[in-house]
Amino acid sequence: MLRLKKDFFSIADRKGWINMNVIVSKTYEEMCQKAARLIAAQLTLKPDSVLGLATGSTPIGIYQELICKYQEDRLDFSKVTTVNLDEYVGISEDNEQSYRYFMNHNLFDHVNIPKKYTYVPNGSTDRIEEECEDYEQLIEQLGGVDLQLLGIGGNGHIGFNEPCGEFPEYTHLVDLKQETIEANSRFFSSMDEVPKQAVTMGIGTIMQAKKVVLVANGVGKAKAIYDTLFGPVTPNVPASILRFHPDVTVFVDEEAFSMVAQKH
Ligand code: GLP
Repeated sequence: MLRLKKDFFSIADRKGWINMNVIVSKTYEEMCQKAARLIAAQLTLKPDSVLGLATGSTPIGIYQELICKYQEDRLDFSKVTTVNLDEYVGISEDNEQSYRYFMNHNLFDHVNIPKKYTYVPNGSTDRIEEECEDYEQLIEQLGGVDLQLLGIGGNGHIGFNEPCGEFPEYTHLVDLKQETIEANSRFFSSMDEVPKQAVTMGIGTIMQAKKVVLVANGVGKAKAIYDTLFGPVTPNVPASILRFHPDVTVFVDEEAFSMVAQKH
């Protein structure tokens, strides 16, 4: 059932099991402003929040908004801890293509967060299994994630949880799908350079976050957003599991919402 209130939709099923808020913006910029406001509210209400953060091109505008708020003295990151969703395997932290480098460059270097409180899985260790276990333990020791920011892949992946036969529970090593390697190759000088594996928080890890914010823009995400909101809940569309999370807000632009708008 879709309840229409201008650009705000609440998707609920009749039994009240599913309850997601969807906020549709005209442009990418507006979408980023709105999503950043929700994150700013979280940090204002709980200055020592644990934020789960995402990479990819989608959140960049949100990070820019947060940096602006910090520069205008409206946001303080000094007590914040961050845990990132994922990291490529076989790429060191100082490699410009690493997600650690991305986070430093797009957010951490520009706000007053102590780097020692920013965590990204280590994909360059030869002890990947231990790294995955340690990452889960770390999140537990931090008391869990207060707000998890998520982008979405064109195939519905979240973090690097690719479509597969079951929802992976914990942080794990993953073989990237060819379509993800191709989509991410735009950040590399050649396809051969794109890592074929990654370490990612599991679906179970993500579902334990207290609040989830999913962001998507562009027509390339329209099907993934439609399937996430209205398709069957299936590991073939990993983001669809979010329908069972009690506190999800989805921020999309009109293009990413276009398939939903057409069909409903
Ligand atoms: C990568 C990341 C995801 C991200 C996705 C989409 O696969 N691991 O966390 O959501 O890319 O990226 P973009 O926002 O660039 O479309």
